[in-house]
Amino acid sequence: MPKLIVQNLANRQVEVAGGQTVFEALQAAGIDWMHACGAKGRCTTCRLVVTEGLEHFGALTATETRYRDNGRLQQNERLLCQATLHGKASGLVPEQTKLPHQQYSF
Ligand code: FES
Repeated sequence: MPKLIVQNLANRQVEVAGGQTVFEALQAAGIDWMHACGAKGRCTTCRLVVTEGLEHFGALTATETRYRDNGRLQQNERLLCQATLHGKASGLVPEQTKLPHQQYSF
């Protein structure tokens, strides 16, 4: 099954089922992840900095393309409330969207 490894959450591994967004998989695994707009694609706080396996994510959604085009989503970032995953990938919670009550390993 596709899997995301969140490196700065002590390499926590999350399996992502088909038809699920990565954010839905994080929620199902009980991992708290910032999602200021309620996972509706209206902010960018759910973004992940992808360090490995960028090619294993589904195609950019229209929402992600809009943020990419206006410079609010970098080439190595995905919005987890939008993105699907079809293989193994690793990434980081960006410094700006770390939750104050969550323990990060770096
Ligand atoms: S939670 Fe707002 S865009 Fe994903």
